[in-house]
Amino acid sequence: MTKKKILLLENIHPGAKNRLEANGFQVQLETISFADDELVAKAKGFQAIGIRSKTQITKSVLAQLPDIEAVGCFCIGTDQVDLDFANEIGLPVFNAPYSNTRSVAELVLCEMIALSRHLADRTMQMHKGQWQKSADGANEVRGKTLGIIGYGHIGSQLSVIAESLGVHVIYYDVVKKLPLGNARVCETLHECLAQSDFISLHVPDTSLTQGMMGESEIKCMKAGSYLINASRGKVVDIPALARALKSKHLSGAAIDVFPVEPASNKEPFISEIQELENVILTPHIGGSTIEAQEAIGQEVAESFTRYFYSGATTGAVNFPQVDVAMPRDYPRILNIHRNVPGVLGEVNGIISALKGNIVAQHLSTDARLGYLAIDLGVSDPQEVAKRISALPTSIRTRVVSERK
Ligand code: NAI
Repeated sequence: MTKKKILLLENIHPGAKNRLEANGFQVQLETISFADDELVAKAKGFQAIGIRSKTQITKSVLAQLPDIEAVGCFCIGTDQVDLDFANEIGLPVFNAPYSNTRSVAELVLCEMIALSRHLADRTMQMHKGQWQKSADGANEVRGKTLGIIGYGHIGSQLSVIAESLGVHVIYYDVVKKLPLGNARVCETLHECLAQSDFISLHVPDTSLTQGMMGESEIKCMKAGSYLINASRGKVVDIPALARALKSKHLSGAAIDVFPVEPASNKEPFISEIQELENVILTPHIGGSTIEAQEAIGQEVAESFTRYFYSGATTGAVNFPQVDVAMPRDYPRILNIHRNVPGVLGEVNGIISALKGNIVAQHLSTDARLGYLAIDLGVSDPQEVAKRISALPTSIRTRVVSERK
């Protein structure tokens, strides 16, 4: 069997290449990104392309690359890909939303301790030649209460590692979540805010979370407590936070994400909370570690592997989700089709006419696409696939069998 070819751009962690090669792919790794015609020329003849945030995979680029069967964003965001057009032509786009979970949780834990000891101010003073030895306002985190808002991947991971330092954890989430360890759920946001020495935000950016930490919520926080935001910039009302810091209602804050962030490292950063006491500011680096880059490489490499060998689209951001293991004893036909009435009947009619036995069948749909995986007992799966492929509703059809 000829190897599928994968082009990885933008200096994706080499672990991804190693894993894909070990899984039987031919991989070309490039350190930079390409645009438009140059990108098309570079990616011709490849079956998958892996990018980070710089490469723009536009409709025009995709239209000129008919061999591409999958796109991998080796990062969190997928705005750089025309997801709608990719869906229209039956192309799943994968990303790695959770590979940097641990990195964010570790940064928050570090910031809890740093805020408690006023480290940002102490180190700034030392750099300016000022020796300010004092225990005023400095506390251990042991025995304090951390309130986590959003008990998802990051929030729940933070919960576990904070408890290992003797921190009491309470949390609030709009979805019912199982408490880990000794963590305790709060019924309302205000209940969580009022009881916590530290509040750490781990919610997504939605219409409900934008501005969710406004004037009244910040006022509801315990006097002398700390606010940490490494989620999304619009969640916190920054002018309200600045007022609470200036009035000393809050003892400090650590902010990694901002409502408006510079588009590149060359642009300046301006915020109302610059120069305030005990405020740690970081340039959206919560998830930026070598380990997270490596984990992202592994996660997307695994998504490519599963898609090409089993057809699984689990985690694809623009595609019907079919979660299937590697085919074992039977070949599998994978068919992406227009989601119109009657397709399944026609496909099964073809299988029946060729005396095939359907061992397992998985169908998932979205507004535009249907994605079908059929494990088939039949003497000539290629013939079945050829006939299914000829249906006017079919977009892409292929056969996979057990990986050797
Ligand atoms: P997740 O989707 O696993 O968890 C989010 C949780 O928030 C869910 O449990 C959800 O039910 C809950 N939630 C949603 N709306 C809520 C509301 N109004 N009130 C309370 N809870 C609510 O997401 P994950 O991976 O834990 O990420 C959390 C945030 O961290 C996201 O905004 C993500 O963009 C951000 N992030 C930031 C990074 C950085 O570099 N600073 C890196 C990675 C993620």
